[in-house]
Amino acid sequence: MLVFDQVGYYYRRGQEVVKEVSFTIQKGEFISIVGGNGSGKSTLAKLMNGLLLAKQGSVALGEQATSDPDQARDVRQTIGLVFQNPEDQFITTNVTDEIVFGLENIRVPPEQIGGRVQDALRATGLERYADAAPHELSGGQKQRAAVAAVIAMQPQFIVFDEATSMLDPEGRNELIKLMRDLHAQGITIIQITHHMDEVLASRRVLLLDQGKLAFDGPTDRFFREVPLEPYGLERPFAVRIGQQLGWSGEATADWKGRAASQWSIE
Ligand SMILES: Nc1ncnc2c1ncn2[C@@H]1O[C@H](COP(=O)(O)OP(=O)(O)OP(=O)(O)O)[C@@H](O)[C@H]1O
Ligand SMILES: [Mg+2]
Repeated sequence: MLVFDQVGYYYRRGQEVVKEVSFTIQKGEFISIVGGNGSGKSTLAKLMNGLLLAKQGSVALGEQATSDPDQARDVRQTIGLVFQNPEDQFITTNVTDEIVFGLENIRVPPEQIGGRVQDALRATGLERYADAAPHELSGGQKQRAAVAAVIAMQPQFIVFDEATSMLDPEGRNELIKLMRDLHAQGITIIQITHHMDEVLASRRVLLLDQGKLAFDGPTDRFFREVPLEPYGLERPFAVRIGQQLGWSGEATADWKGRAASQWSIE
């Protein structure tokens, strides 16, 4: 369980970019975080895994405060982050080394490393690319390598910070499918996205507006009740069509069905 309690953060004193944000994320959830440019989404992601420390309030993972430096390694291991730019994530020279690097960093015993690398390659469909260098991979494959490095650490939560936004449609589809697979395996998924179509894959939405939490609730209620335009967000295509045809909330199941077929959700 990840608990934000009245969290505030600023980069420059007096300019708060996260303001009094409180929410709880249970293990096993699939959540979207949305909001306009600069609303504080990436800052929130970094507060989640202790990359940034709250200036006000507290962030806790189970019993551990993420601000406790002794727990920092545990927290980063428990909550993995996947960022936007596939080019920025590759540190080493091939996919296997990339996974090993993360494991050595968290001091996984050497005898466990081989098995964890194989499992991570299999889970991300990258077995054939184990020795591939970054320039031999597509953007989508690079993002999957970043995910492989994260899941090898056996995290309970993974935060995807606009991880699909630089990918072509095929790469996007593959990454969303991977999120669904990981969620089915019990990993809590938190996706930050500008694509409202992707939000349909999640069950709960957090909306940030200038650093404040403006909505926290189920995905269908979000699309029914929240006017998205003021936040610079667009309704998903299927929802727009449904609303133009005059469907009520009752039609929700129908657009959910369409989204499900789009993203291969049951
Ligand atoms: N390292 C930094 N130093 C100073 N200000 C920053 C820094 N990183 C972000 N900010 C500012 O904090 C605010 C929130 O930024 P953040 O990146 O969290 O927003 P975001 O919702 O992720 O935006 P985007 O949709 O563009 O990714 C913005 O006003 C941004 O300019
Ligand atoms: Mg961001």
